[in-house]
Amino acid sequence: PEASLRVVTIDGPAASGKGTIARQLAETLGWTLLNTGAMYRVVALAGMRRGLDLTDEDRLAALARGLRARFEAGRAWLEDEDVTEPIHSLEVTRATRHAADNQQVRAVLVGWQRRFARRHQPIVTEGRDQGTVVFPHAPVKIYLTADPAERARRRVAQFTRQGQIVDPAQVLADLLQRDREDESRPIGGLKPAPDALRLDTTNLTPHEVVGDLVNLVRQRLGTT
Ligand code: DC
Repeated sequence: PEASLRVVTIDGPAASGKGTIARQLAETLGWTLLNTGAMYRVVALAGMRRGLDLTDEDRLAALARGLRARFEAGRAWLEDEDVTEPIHSLEVTRATRHAADNQQVRAVLVGWQRRFARRHQPIVTEGRDQGTVVFPHAPVKIYLTADPAERARRRVAQFTRQGQIVDPAQVLADLLQRDREDESRPIGGLKPAPDALRLDTTNLTPHEVVGDLVNLVRQRLGTT
């Protein structure tokens, strides 16, 4: 059933430009955006708020199965609360690995992601495993990378815009730590699908990347 879905997957490491590029690509095409990282973050936030031991895999998975969460227009809701900001705090970002490492949680969220695609296609979806595990038949797959120093610079700029003061060396260290965690996950880990187009964004603006991708999608999928 996943084979015929109109989906563009964008995978890559944290701060590779995925978020911005996926959003702008979806806007330009007039397609729906899915940010799958937000799903893992919401599970972690919900677990923290209920005081769960996040390393208890069965309990965290049970929580995920019963969760009432919504993802819409780039925002995330838990029950009826807009949690877009809290899920991006430093604490939740660090705790999210417990959701991502949990294979039962991954299975639940893969289900959410496929159901979202069936309901809202055509979609642009971004994450770590969208082209490899969730939508292996996607007609267009992109894998974005960028030098760690450039990714750290972008992340610091993002925090600064939000009025947060951060230590650039710590930001870089956190990114490298998260790369190691994301790459070492046996299922759903960060890696390019064999048929993904790989793009290094270190010296490119989002505008340049999106322009190329719009052309690629239109070529592959015909007029949209
Ligand atoms: O894209 P992000 O930084 O919001 O993702 C947060 C974490 O969630 C990331 O470090 C790994 C996990 N994740 C995942 O395992 N699979 C996905 N498809 C998306 C995110």
